[in-house]
Amino acid sequence: MNSSPSFSLKGKKILFSGATGVLGKEMALYLAQQEASVLLLGRNPKKINDLRDLISSAGGKAWAYCADVTDEEALQKVAQIIASQHESLDTLINAAGGNMPGAVIRPEQTFLDLDSQALREVLDLNYLGTVFPIKVFLPLLLKNKKGTILNISSMAATRPMTRVMGYASAKAAIDNLTKWLAVELTSKYGPSFRVNALAPGFFLTEQNRTLLTETDGSLTQRGQQIISHTPMNRFGQPEDLLGALHWLCSDASSFVTGTIVTVDGGFSAYAGV
Ligand SMILES: NC(=O)c1ccc[n+]([C@@H]2O[C@H](COP(=O)([O-])OP(=O)(O)OC[C@H]3O[C@@H](n4cnc5c(N)ncnc54)[C@H](O)[C@@H]3O)[C@@H](O)[C@H]2O)c1
Repeated sequence: MNSSPSFSLKGKKILFSGATGVLGKEMALYLAQQEASVLLLGRNPKKINDLRDLISSAGGKAWAYCADVTDEEALQKVAQIIASQHESLDTLINAAGGNMPGAVIRPEQTFLDLDSQALREVLDLNYLGTVFPIKVFLPLLLKNKKGTILNISSMAATRPMTRVMGYASAKAAIDNLTKWLAVELTSKYGPSFRVNALAPGFFLTEQNRTLLTETDGSLTQRGQQIISHTPMNRFGQPEDLLGALHWLCSDASSFVTGTIVTVDGGFSAYAGV
């Protein structure tokens, strides 16, 4: 009997939202290197086509599709195209998301200054922008009789930080959704359907650069507080996510569902003393 876990991603059809983002791009390129067929979903046709071409020119397999993840109708149109081109999907990764400057409560503001419209937008993107793709693309996973969904959460879900209330609330909802759906899919469709999440800690990217660093690259007070609370004493690099990504997309994690895997250099384990 061969009891070695299978980490192979070769030939897996992986649909990936937010693939042109800082973390998303690193993950999409990696999956293509593992010989997965990567179906890139993005809003900006040029960016998504450029990424497809980059992967293809390196010998990988990629397709580009355009839709806003908060637009269910646009997603339905993409699902029809994918069904005709690929028939089914193995994996859906929901990486579209992020904080929005308008939804941040600045130091001189209080909760009473919360911009309600910006709050709505950040909740829509991070929560509905995950729920709608799952709803729309689940039939393509079901066709395959086996499938995994990987949501991208955040440290902010379980350790809500000052200022970014809307983003933190939306990511907390992603953790809850991940667990809820894990139970729902297994009980309705069987143990071959799994739902997990990756929760990156602090990665220095465009979304948070101005919160964490000054224009000269030195750390803001917030950046310093984060680093001093991170036992590994650094921000994450996009490639730090790849091992957990690989495991959760592969059959090696076939008994893992409803789990939120934290990749944070020890931030969430540290009490600060
Ligand atoms: N960067 C970090 O430090 C960090 C930490 C924890 C969690 N995360 C999460 O990881 C994920 C990826 O982050 P990133 O740093 O790559 O973000 P990013 O801002 O670099 O990229 C976000 C991606 O989402 C896409 N997107 C945004 N709105 C969209 C919409 N309405 N429809 C379709 N696509 C849309 C963007 O085009 C982009 O490709 C996000 O969910 C983010 O919240 C990031």
